[in-house]
Amino acid sequence: MKTILVTGGAGFIGSNFVKIMLEKHPNYKIINIDSLTYAGNLESLKHIDRNYSNYEFIKTDIRDRSKIEEIFINYDITSVINFAAESHVDRSIEDPEIFLTTNVIGTQVLLDVAKRHWKLNPKDKYCREYKNGVKFLQVSTDEVYGALGKTGMFVETMPLMPNSPYSASKASADMIVRAFNETFGIPVNITRCSNNYGPYQFPEKLIPLMINNCLQDKPLPVYGDGLQVRDWLHVFDHCHAIDTVLHKGVDGEVYNIGGNNEKANIDIVKLIIKTLNKSSTIIKYVKDRPGHDRRYAINNSKITTQLGWEPSYTFEHGIKETIQWYLDNTEWIENIISGDYASYYDKMYS
Ligand code: NAD
Ligand code: TYD
Repeated sequence: MKTILVTGGAGFIGSNFVKIMLEKHPNYKIINIDSLTYAGNLESLKHIDRNYSNYEFIKTDIRDRSKIEEIFINYDITSVINFAAESHVDRSIEDPEIFLTTNVIGTQVLLDVAKRHWKLNPKDKYCREYKNGVKFLQVSTDEVYGALGKTGMFVETMPLMPNSPYSASKASADMIVRAFNETFGIPVNITRCSNNYGPYQFPEKLIPLMINNCLQDKPLPVYGDGLQVRDWLHVFDHCHAIDTVLHKGVDGEVYNIGGNNEKANIDIVKLIIKTLNKSSTIIKYVKDRPGHDRRYAINNSKITTQLGWEPSYTFEHGIKETIQWYLDNTEWIENIISGDYASYYDKMYS
């Protein structure tokens, strides 16, 4: 029996992960903690609360040490999957500070508390032995490697060269996770995934933003020349990869996760326009993002050959299904736009 502490489980990837894990591992207990920033949306987990007795949501900030301590005292946590983060590059350019406090200090608080509770002898500061089967899994991003030119791919041994405040904060978190593993021996893995798409993504990111603007006949803002390349992975594939690393990942190792789906932004925008029967005249080229990374591409051979994970979605199938999901779930997106989703916690939990 595992008790998994999922942080940031009301966000895009975390909420998909919670649902997949409850289905896949009915004997695990899932504790979801999330501070419900603008990106946290409990409506994404609407059907979960009542249907699973092995699931609990606790509104908590990962920087709040005493709350995290309390959770480790009240539950026999066996793994932490740390999704909680400020995740949007454009916001990190506007206001970097919260990216550092949440993404770096928050990760360090979680590690610190986990270390104390998982040590076999908590009083011995040099004790490097931990309870059986415990693991801290840091959900990171390929953006920590920086940008690629026309050729090459990210491999796990590359130096980290982050270019945005967001990616710098994620790289810093990776470093502190690594340091806790080296210095204190706490069991960890780090996963570095490429861009995700799929259901329940906040409409500030490329794909849901373009779908939503298309549906509202609003202009589609393409940064710069639109020829920047991202390597897209369906969120379900990412979640299954994390589950694989949780169970099979070798202590201290980093695993890249990607789906071999490199696409230029403009091609994705055109595909969305075509699928929704709109005119390409709604494309609006706008000023480029400062420090905009030109290309990301993941070499996923370590996770595929060593742990046996494979992506299951082709991009063509995944994007069609995703567009259809947004068409079928207009209420979810309307509640975000109107701001109503923010009151869901009070309605459900107060
Ligand atoms: P998201 O922004 O949709 O969700 C983040 C969640 O974290 C939200 O629910 C938010 O309320 C919560 N949160 C933020 N600050 C918090 C705090 N201080 N305490 C507790 N909760 C807090 O992000 P996402 O797209 O689901 O990404 C999840 C993780 O995966 C992030 O760590 C991100 O860096 C990483 N990642 C994302 C992608 C992607 O394409 N979206 C790709 C690779 C890695
Ligand atoms: P985004 O979804 O913000 O993810 P990231 O910056 O983490 O890769 O952006 C994906 C790509 O799409 C990125 O190259 C920036 C570009 N983009 C636009 O051209 N227009 C937009 O309105 C947004 C949000 C992104």
